[in-house]
Amino acid sequence: MISPAPIYLDYAATTPLDSRVADRLRDVQSSAYFNPASNHIAGRQSARVVAEAATSLGALINVDPASIIWTSGATESNNLAILGAAKQRAHCGRHLVTMRTEHKAVVDVFRALEKTGFEVTWLSPGPEGQLDPETFEAALRDDTQLVSIMKINNETGVVQDIEAIGRICRARNILFHVDAAQAVGKVPVDVSALQVDMMSMTAHKFYGPKGIGALCVANGTALEPQMFGGGQQKRMRPGTLPVDLIAGLGTAATVAAQCIDDDLCKLVMLKDRLWSGIRGIDGVRLNGPEQGGYPGILNVSVEDIEGESLLLALEPLCVATGSACNSQSQEPSYVLRALGLSDQEAQSAIRFSFGRQTTVEDIDFAISAYRSAVSKLRSLAPGIAA
Ligand SMILES: Cc1ncc(COP(=O)(O)O)c(C=O)c1O
Repeated sequence: MISPAPIYLDYAATTPLDSRVADRLRDVQSSAYFNPASNHIAGRQSARVVAEAATSLGALINVDPASIIWTSGATESNNLAILGAAKQRAHCGRHLVTMRTEHKAVVDVFRALEKTGFEVTWLSPGPEGQLDPETFEAALRDDTQLVSIMKINNETGVVQDIEAIGRICRARNILFHVDAAQAVGKVPVDVSALQVDMMSMTAHKFYGPKGIGALCVANGTALEPQMFGGGQQKRMRPGTLPVDLIAGLGTAATVAAQCIDDDLCKLVMLKDRLWSGIRGIDGVRLNGPEQGGYPGILNVSVEDIEGESLLLALEPLCVATGSACNSQSQEPSYVLRALGLSDQEAQSAIRFSFGRQTTVEDIDFAISAYRSAVSKLRSLAPGIAA
């Protein structure tokens, strides 16, 4: 039996490769695929490709290309930023601040630091997911040395007020790291205008290749390296650079700079259409803000239905019950629990996320698939459909 073609609405997990990025990858693999650290013509050719990509990324987020450290993705960028800064500046204080709703690649790094004698304040969001800057400021202490707050939440699309948080940190000389994995290439980000010291990003969330990301380290911030090896990237992150992937990220950044406004306009229309199509279903609730959230993510819960059953009933629609990184866990989403949802509400959540290649037809398919899956599961098992 031929399985139906997937309808992909899981852009927050990863995005498809943009065709211009795919072309660039092939180009570099067949021409400049050498070691950029090698001191010969071929090496220098590859080093130029890396430098061009840094310029493209620097232009997208308004930073000096020299402040970019290439990594394997946002997980590694977050680890390097948080561990590297906390350890480097342990003498400035051992108090750190983050949110309960951060991605696992931040939460688990802070947990690891707690085991080595750092103290972490875990801030809770308001009911729509936002961090109140006053609550944030009240959590700071004289020995607070590092804060990490994400720009866009990967489960709910909630956008944090990075500008306000940055201002508060700068006034107190506290380092500020932002996990912008869901933001860079998708919404305008201007690192120089924000008072941010470090920002994590990853190409596969903005139509670039998987396995390549970056950490932008601004304002001369010093980090303790977390890997040891060759002298690449000022010894901050040694290892031979994947010149093709870096070039792909650079092209994804250039394309993003051209498309970001059109992408956002389309996403606003698609999200409105999707929410209008399902909000009338009995017992449906929106997880996240009505207004002002990132328009590429819509997270909804529904009464009396269990998310995993819904996920199966929705096929061939590809959506998520939460973060892809947590998909092995049977636990309800800790992000949604932190917003005050009950276990049942959190367990019934479905995250729809869409992007550049999503069509109105995909959204209409999702509306009718969701409506019929909910009524089918309710008819099978009045009460909890599991
Ligand atoms: C907010 C956030 N941070 C970090 C990551 C990890 O990114 P990567 O897959 O590039 O390691 C993700 C990816 O799911 C994410 O959404």
